Amino acid sequence: MDYGKYFSADVPSFLRSPVREIFRKVDLSAICSFAGGYPAASTFPVEQIPGLAEKVLSKYGTKALQYGATQGVPELREIIARRYGVPVSQVQITTSSQQGIDVCSRVFLDPGDIVLANNPVYLGALQSFKAYRAEVEPIGIDTTSAKFIYVIPDFNNPSGKTMTLEEREEIVRIARDLDVLIVEDSPYRELRYSGEPVKTIRELAPERTLHLGSFSKIFAPGFRLGWIIGPEPLLEQIYVCKQCLDLCPPVLDQYMAAEFMGSGALDANLEKTIAEYRHRRDLMVGLLEKYMPEGVSWTYPEGGLFLWLTLPESVDTVAMYDEALSKGVAYVAGSFFYTDGSHRNTMRLNFSFVEEAKMEPGIKTLASVVRNRLVNR
Ligand SMILES: Cc1ncc(COP(=O)(O)O)c(C=O)c1O
Repeated sequence: MDYGKYFSADVPSFLRSPVREIFRKVDLSAICSFAGGYPAASTFPVEQIPGLAEKVLSKYGTKALQYGATQGVPELREIIARRYGVPVSQVQITTSSQQGIDVCSRVFLDPGDIVLANNPVYLGALQSFKAYRAEVEPIGIDTTSAKFIYVIPDFNNPSGKTMTLEEREEIVRIARDLDVLIVEDSPYRELRYSGEPVKTIRELAPERTLHLGSFSKIFAPGFRLGWIIGPEPLLEQIYVCKQCLDLCPPVLDQYMAAEFMGSGALDANLEKTIAEYRHRRDLMVGLLEKYMPEGVSWTYPEGGLFLWLTLPESVDTVAMYDEALSKGVAYVAGSFFYTDGSHRNTMRLNFSFVEEAKMEPGIKTLASVVRNRLVNR
């Protein structure tokens, strides 16, 4: 049977994530994976979950298992509103921040529209923009077809870079000049290991910014919870769109997140998470210094989960991938994050997921694979 004719005109634009493909092919526990963006399992508050569930069920009873409001349960919206100093009416709970990106794309983009974004760009965002048949162009081009600027100002995925205040102000200036919105994707903001926090773009331009937050890296991604803070008239359309996406975010999960955040347990857990990740970041940087051959450089991120490596021009990280994997190490080739597939001499390394004990053998192996490429040029 020819199934092709049944698919919508959007389907050819769907992008397959190379990162997910890597995960489909390999048993993560059997290798040293620097590939995904998974948090460390050790940061999940596993022992607290049964008590949290019991508390929620005794407090809310069957309400916790019922459908809830499309905007999210009031308890969670209020806690988020208080934490970030905004009115509750400016908070929409999402079923993860990936949904936040997708719902913004669905509400604001028409086929042929332009999203302005920096290269390299987060793959999940690229997947959503493409799925609505929008094009991604660099921030700074002169255009009348752009609808929004997409940025990750804090600890970018994949580059690890954090925007300075001046760079954020420049984004706001461009957005105001072009009269476009800004989607500020911010799942890592609370994971800062060094340096000083910089104002969010939402704080600089609240009238045109949709700020996307996530519980994935500060609680657990399995809850699939996030939020959008933005102007009410924009949230109103997102609210209507979310009705057809999932009716409401998961109710039990929201009550548990509200309880966890409201009691102070989230901040206590976050403090431990930050200490753990700071240690891992420094460990990975130390290992790169120890093992990588000359000519390889990397970023030193102030937070988040990723380092970005630049290798000598002659090293093609796409071509090198199978060799690394055969020796038990996975990474993501940097060119996958470039809209034009360029920068084949770069790679993204995640430092949060791999067990600490595997990190040194993993980096040592990766460095030897890189060295082989340089020798056999
Ligand atoms: C920049 C960025 N945005 C959004 C997401 C999606 O996060 P979630 O859907 O788990 O909230 C990720 C996940 O890695 C990310 O790196």
